[in-house]
Amino acid sequence: MTHSTIQVQAQGRVGWITLHRPRQLNALNDALMDELGAALRAFDADPGIGAIVITGSDKAFAAGADIEAMADWTFMDVTAGQFITRNWEAIRSVRKPVIAAVAGYAMGGGCELALACDVIVAAESARFALPEIKLAMLPGAGGTQRLPRAIGKAKAMDMCLSARMLDAQEADRYGLVSRVVPDAGLLEQTQALAAQIASYSLPALVAIKESVNRAWESPLSEGILFERRALYGRFASHDAHEGMHAFLDKRTPAFEHR
Ligand code: CAA
Repeated sequence: MTHSTIQVQAQGRVGWITLHRPRQLNALNDALMDELGAALRAFDADPGIGAIVITGSDKAFAAGADIEAMADWTFMDVTAGQFITRNWEAIRSVRKPVIAAVAGYAMGGGCELALACDVIVAAESARFALPEIKLAMLPGAGGTQRLPRAIGKAKAMDMCLSARMLDAQEADRYGLVSRVVPDAGLLEQTQALAAQIASYSLPALVAIKESVNRAWESPLSEGILFERRALYGRFASHDAHEGMHAFLDKRTPAFEHR
């Protein structure tokens, strides 16, 4: 499949999607989000892929929703066209782990795209902000919801109301990102992390992702119940028995992803 706004390749069991609108700092227009959604769905359906990475350029992961595209839209345009909902939400349906590898600007929708991923690896140059208030807009791709869950209300309000930009170290301290790496090592270290994740049993990864996401979306009692059912489900799998027996036999497990 040919793409005009992203680049797609597989490295072993890791599917890489590189946002590629360099002149617009990877601003997320509908064409890009359509291609991103299709690429995510394709990797999610590919049994040879165990983890997916989304990345941008050295200068920008993504500078947000495309302001030029949105500038003259009306209420009816965004309602009838299901802005955000139609394509940005595709990422929520991906069952495999998705890692954002962020260098440079992750602003507005770019920050929200990273927040929608399961793991964020930030280069030292990464900068995170929700500057929509400067446009008299609001972070409307999950930012007002995911950011407070990730870093708490006080920090999220500060970022959303003042457009404060966080550098990678601040983002790490606040719990916005999973880990920080040197710029020169971003792609290599993200590939190593993604390959490690992808080497594990895929159904177990999917169960863990679903369970952790329950923690965001349900009361503790419901989350614990969901987790317990997911745990019991592991005993119906080949891989869990293989993993435990391999440990006891002091050998490397041979997962079959079933
Ligand atoms: N949409 C469209 N084009 C964008 C863009 C965006 N979000 N961000 C940058 N660009 C374009 C610029 O217009 C510029 O184009 P030209 O060369 O044709 O003038 C080009 O990318 C390079 O940008 P700058 O010259 O501004 O680069 P810089 O290095 O001086 O600044 C920046 C970088 C700080 C990221 C700055 O570009 C910026 O502030 N961008 C806008 C960030 C923003 O407001 N994002 C939120 C968008 S709204 C949103 O995301 C809503 C939502 O929740 C869904």
